[in-house]
Amino acid sequence: MPQPLVIGNWKMNGSLSLTSDILRAIESGIDDKIKCEVGVCVPYVYIAQAHSTIACDSRITVGAQTVSEYKSGAYTGEVSADMLAEINCHWVLVGHSERRVLFNEKDTALVLKVLAAQRAGLVPVYCVGETEADYKAGNTFQTIENQISALLDNKAVDLKQIVLAYEPVWAIGTGLTATPDEAQKVHDFIRQLIKKQNKEAAIKVRILYGGSVKPDSAESLFAQKDIDGGLIGGASLDVEAFLSICQKA
Ligand code: 13P
Repeated sequence: MPQPLVIGNWKMNGSLSLTSDILRAIESGIDDKIKCEVGVCVPYVYIAQAHSTIACDSRITVGAQTVSEYKSGAYTGEVSADMLAEINCHWVLVGHSERRVLFNEKDTALVLKVLAAQRAGLVPVYCVGETEADYKAGNTFQTIENQISALLDNKAVDLKQIVLAYEPVWAIGTGLTATPDEAQKVHDFIRQLIKKQNKEAAIKVRILYGGSVKPDSAESLFAQKDIDGGLIGGASLDVEAFLSICQKA
């Protein structure tokens, strides 16, 4: 069984002081009761600050929230995977629904981002999830398959060096969560899709659940066979809640 993983996605929140305060508090709160791997994906500008706040041998690993698919050049505003690797980023989120919906990121470009990240030695966290309309129309599985197939069909993607995250769009920031049973079915479906391409990777890959995960809902979600941890938005900025979620993983 893979080691559980909990990643905080701070989104566009934080400041220099908040970054130090939150990370210091998380770091001092990580004790023996927390067995999972712990990551935080902070805004680009706070990555260096995050590293200088935590200890060299910290259990917290730092990541970014998106990355350019390009290596370098005239791409104003973009940040490359090599740049992130140079500042010791470990994770990078790819295809978060806010990137897909608000910034129009499409599967083809997202797969290029995954490849760029892996080439630079980063671990991409590839996010998928259906909208409320898809969910209500019973199209969850088809949507997930569509979002994931570009990734699985590309033989250059190393499926053993990736994390998947299932985040139903209707559950993000709404206080609604998929039931543990609903989430388990989707996670199992994702694992089966991976298995068709690579059996070994299907066993190894961690599939995180995200969408309004709170200390109260974490335990029953993480108890599901194919839920290997969480991608946490709002609750990752609340130290007590985040540590409690980590403890439940
Ligand atoms: P919330 O936990 O705030 O619903 O956000 C989930 C998310 O988008 C994590 O990437």
